[in-house]
Amino acid sequence: MSASKECSTFIVMGASGDLAKKKIYPTLWQLYKKELFPANTKIVGYARSALSITQLKERVKPFLKLGADEEKKCDDFFGINEYVRGAYDEKEAFDNLAAKIWKLEQGFTAGNRLFYLALPPSVFDVVTTNIKLCCMSKTGWSRVIVEKPFGKDLESSEKLSSHLAGLFKEEEIYRIDHYLGKEMVQNLMVLRFANCILGPVWNRNYINNVVITFKEPFGTKGRGGYFDEFGIIRDVMQNHLLQIFCLTAMEKPCSNAAGDIRDEKVKVLKSVPPIELDDVVLGQYVGDPKGEGDIKEGYLDDPTVPTGSITPTYAMAVMKIKNERWDGVPFIVKCGKALNERKTEVRVQFKDVPGDIFEGKAKRNELVIRVQPNEAVYLKMMTKQPGMSDDIVESELDLTYKARYKDVPLPDAYERLILDVFYGLQTNFVRSDELAEAWRIFTPLLHQIDREKIKPTPYVYGSRGPPEADAKAKGEGFCFSPSYKWNKPQPF
Ligand code: NDP
Ligand code: BG6
Repeated sequence: MSASKECSTFIVMGASGDLAKKKIYPTLWQLYKKELFPANTKIVGYARSALSITQLKERVKPFLKLGADEEKKCDDFFGINEYVRGAYDEKEAFDNLAAKIWKLEQGFTAGNRLFYLALPPSVFDVVTTNIKLCCMSKTGWSRVIVEKPFGKDLESSEKLSSHLAGLFKEEEIYRIDHYLGKEMVQNLMVLRFANCILGPVWNRNYINNVVITFKEPFGTKGRGGYFDEFGIIRDVMQNHLLQIFCLTAMEKPCSNAAGDIRDEKVKVLKSVPPIELDDVVLGQYVGDPKGEGDIKEGYLDDPTVPTGSITPTYAMAVMKIKNERWDGVPFIVKCGKALNERKTEVRVQFKDVPGDIFEGKAKRNELVIRVQPNEAVYLKMMTKQPGMSDDIVESELDLTYKARYKDVPLPDAYERLILDVFYGLQTNFVRSDELAEAWRIFTPLLHQIDREKIKPTPYVYGSRGPPEADAKAKGEGFCFSPSYKWNKPQPF
C-alpha cells in the first residue's frame, strides 16, 4: 500500500433506524455501485441495537432495489460495512467506535470521517458531544451531516446551532435539506443566471406573482407521531419550500462559490418580514367516505395521531419581499399532504399584456419549473391559432426532460448531497445564518398558531386542499386559466 494514501469512513449514527434503512444505506449502495466513492471508503453503522452485518443486510436489502445480476456486488458492498453497537450517551461506547474507525484507517496516511446523524433530535446534543470528545480524525478531516428538524422555532434552533458551533467549525457542519439535491432545484440558478432573456423580466415590473407548490397524494401513513409534533409548516414549508423560494428570489451571486450563493440567500431572507396569520390558510385532511383504501381515512383516523389534534397537514402562506426587485409581488407558498396529486413546482405568473389589442383573450404567460415528478420547464404563452383562423390560443414552449434527455438518469437528491460532503462542497447545504433567518420569518406565526390553538379548515383527502386557499391566491392576484390544455407531444 502506498504511504501517501487517504481513506474515508462514513459513519451512520442511528444505523438501525428508519431513515438509515430507507434512505442512507440505499444511497450509499448507489454510490458504491456507481463507483463514485473516493478510493478506500468504508462504512460503519452505529446504534443501540445489537446487529450483525448479516442482520443489517437483511433489514436494508429490501430497500436497495437490486437488479437481477447485482447479488454479488451487493455482497461486496456489505463487505465494506462494519457495525458497532453502543449507547448514545456513553463516552466509553464512542471510544469503542473510535477504536473501530482507527483500525480501518491503519496503513493510510490520512483518515477522513463523515458522521451522518440519522437520529431523533432528542439525542443530537449528546451524540455530537461524544463525537467531538472521542471520534474526530487526527490525520484527516471530520464532517458532520445533520438531518432536519433543525429545532422547532428560532430559540430551539439557535440553541442547537450554538451547541454545534461550540463543537465544530461551520465548514465541518453539513445541514442537509434534500430538496437542494434535486435536479430542478439545482437548475434554478442556471435557468435564471445563464439565460439573458430571463434577467430583465425577473422582477416586479413583469411578474404578477410566484406560486411555489408541494403536493403529496398520501397522508401521514403511520408517521403521525413525528408529523403531529411538527406539522406541515415545519416539515416542508420552512425548509424545502423556503430553499426553493431563496433560489427563485435571490439576487445573482458574485460567483458560483458556496459562500457567495449562501450570502445571497441570506440577503433575500432578510428582506422578508415575519409571516402573519392573516397571510395564511391552514388545513387538515378528512377521509373521503366515497373513496377506497387509505382515502377513507382522515388525519385524525391515523392511530399514531393524538385524538383531536389540530396540527395542519396543509398550509398556504403569502410571503412578501421588501426589496427593490420584488416589492408588491406575492410569493404564494403552499404545501399539503393527502391532496389530488404528487407535484412540486415553481410557477412564475407574468403580468397581463398592457395595451391589449386582442379583446381580453390573451392569457397570462407562466413559466413553470416542475421539480417533480416528470421534471420539466415550460413557458405558457399565446400563439395564433394555426391555419386560416386568426384567433389566439394558449400554447407552450416545452422542455420535458423525459423527451429531451431520454437516456440521462437523474440521481437521487441524497446521492448528490452525500457526494458533495465527501468533496467538501457546501453550496447545497444550509448555513447557520440562513437557518436563523428562516426561523425568524416563521417563528411568530408558529407560536401564534400554537398559543391560540388555531383550528385548520378540513379538506377532503384527494382534493386540492381547502377552497379558501384558492380564494386567497386569487385575492393576491393569481389568475387561473381553466382553458389551458396540454397536448402531450407525440413522438415523431
Ligand atoms: P394546472 O392546470 O394543473 O395548474 C395551474 C395552476 O392553477 C396551479 O397553480 C394550480 O394549483 C392552479 N389551479 C388548478 N385548478 C385550479 C382551480 N380550480 N382553481 C384555482 N386554481 C387552480 O397546470 P398547468 O396549467 O401548468 O398545466 C396543465 C396540465 O398540463 C398539468 O397537468 C401539467 O402538468 C401539464 N403540462 C405538462 C407539461 C410537461 O410535462 N412538460 C407541459 C405543460 C403542461 P394547484 O397546483 O394547487 O393544483
Ligand atoms: C421530508 C418530509 O422532508 O420530505 C416528508 O419530512 C415529505 O413529510 C418528504 O414527505 C418529501 O420528500 P420528497 O423527496 O419525496 O418530495
